Amino acid sequence: MTDQIPAGPLTTEAGAPVADNQHSQVAGVGGPVLIQDQHLIEKLAHFNRERVPERVVHARGAGAYGTFTVTADVTPYTRAAFLSEIGKETEVFLRFSTVAGNLGAADAVRDPRGFALKFYTEEGNYDLVGNNTPIFFIKDAIKFPDFIHTQKRDPYTGSQEPDNVWDFWGLSPESTHQVTWLFGDRGIPASYRHMNGYGSHTFQWTNAAGEAFWVKYHFKTDQGIRNLTAEEAAVLAGQDPDSHQRDLRVSIENGDFPSWTVQAQIMPVADAPTYRFNPFDLTKVWPHADYPPIEIGRLELNRNPRNVFAEVEQSIFSPHHFVPGIGPSPDNMLQGRLFAYGDAHRYRVGINADQLPVNRPHATEARTHGRDGHAYDGRHGGAKNYEPNSFGGPAQTDQPLWAATTVSGVTGDHPAPSHAEDDDYGQAGTLYRLMSEDEKERLIANLAGSIAQVSRDDIAERAIENFRRADEDYGKRLHAAVQALRG
Ligand code: HEM
Repeated sequence: MTDQIPAGPLTTEAGAPVADNQHSQVAGVGGPVLIQDQHLIEKLAHFNRERVPERVVHARGAGAYGTFTVTADVTPYTRAAFLSEIGKETEVFLRFSTVAGNLGAADAVRDPRGFALKFYTEEGNYDLVGNNTPIFFIKDAIKFPDFIHTQKRDPYTGSQEPDNVWDFWGLSPESTHQVTWLFGDRGIPASYRHMNGYGSHTFQWTNAAGEAFWVKYHFKTDQGIRNLTAEEAAVLAGQDPDSHQRDLRVSIENGDFPSWTVQAQIMPVADAPTYRFNPFDLTKVWPHADYPPIEIGRLELNRNPRNVFAEVEQSIFSPHHFVPGIGPSPDNMLQGRLFAYGDAHRYRVGINADQLPVNRPHATEARTHGRDGHAYDGRHGGAKNYEPNSFGGPAQTDQPLWAATTVSGVTGDHPAPSHAEDDDYGQAGTLYRLMSEDEKERLIANLAGSIAQVSRDDIAERAIENFRRADEDYGKRLHAAVQALRG
């Protein structure tokens, strides 16, 4: 990258020449600094404001631009314009991340990876804010702040604490499936290029006739899955904390563009009420035998951002950024996320965050009557700022963005509906039994190494019990491994 500010006089922020950028103005040789040195004051003040608050989760990440290409006719399922034709290309920006670490944390750690994808479509930006896991630890947004508190730094010790982590997981048995995934081989990807991405939630697609379908997205890495063992990761995290970030940037610089084959699982809406699992439960997958994934597209990353702060740190992604033909499902986690992200962006980047170059629509323009606020760029000029008005300008379309869903019953703090095969352990047990003997050994060793650090026996035992309920052998081996480490 060879960007350079044009030669000429160094200036202040207001464009006036700077006479001396090495010495502060002082009251005589050896004297104190003068407040009239506006260049010094401006320079120090600007420096103090270089950071915006880091993301409360997923603070550490890297991003790149690329292209999404449609490879199948999905018009029977969705009327989203960017999916309307085989061969159609849409510009994208993808930010990968880890979850628990702060901004400067190492990349090679056991943690889910974020897979946040922005499609710059002609009908506005569509964001799919997923992870590298098809499932999640919890199934109701109301538990998310508590869950994240256990993953981040303890208020007293200031460190991540195994006691908090395992206390929460032990008391939240719905996490057993995702924890089995996380402590398995895929828990530490070798790089952002060598892992899959998932939309994770169930979303709604609506076709031109207004018919709805439930859909799950899968992004299968074309580089192949590659992971690090716990031992390899410990060394790499120390030697090269930026390993994932560097790998992504350098591979794109070298023209070795990473790509993913994009698939969708599609469920007719009529199947949902009687499906064997609650199809909106984020702690469960839809087994592929029930709804085989169909290939729908190809995603390629081929351009690095020019400025990491402007384009990666200030990038914003929200599950509520839908386009016509794609909408939410009643998944309680997704519903909570529809609020949380926009709110985080207004706090973290500001009310005009949507209009920054990385965030604004690239294939259309925002035509709103929203105005002003911090860092407003005046792009609307003197145009009327209300609607309806008698002076022309944008108007509502009167076309529903997605299909209505049927609801019934009384309001209240109801648990999610339970379907025939729903429980907190079944799919975790299935995942365990699918693993080879080698994989099982590494899974048990990884889990035991972490649980053995817990200070209280009751917390450790409760956590192990969840794995026993998933599979008797799983629990027995884990118990023995933890006992061996705790002595
Ligand atoms: C109700 C549960 C959840 C809440 C309340 C929540 C909230 C948040 C918040 C506040 C941020 C920071 C946003 C920012 O400052 O720009 C964030 C980032 C993120 N979350 Fe969630 N989250 C939830 C669940 C999930 C799930 C289930 C996934 C994946 C399936 C996910 C994936 C991500 C990703 C990838 C980012 C980083 C986005 C980026 O790169 O800017 N989150 N989340």
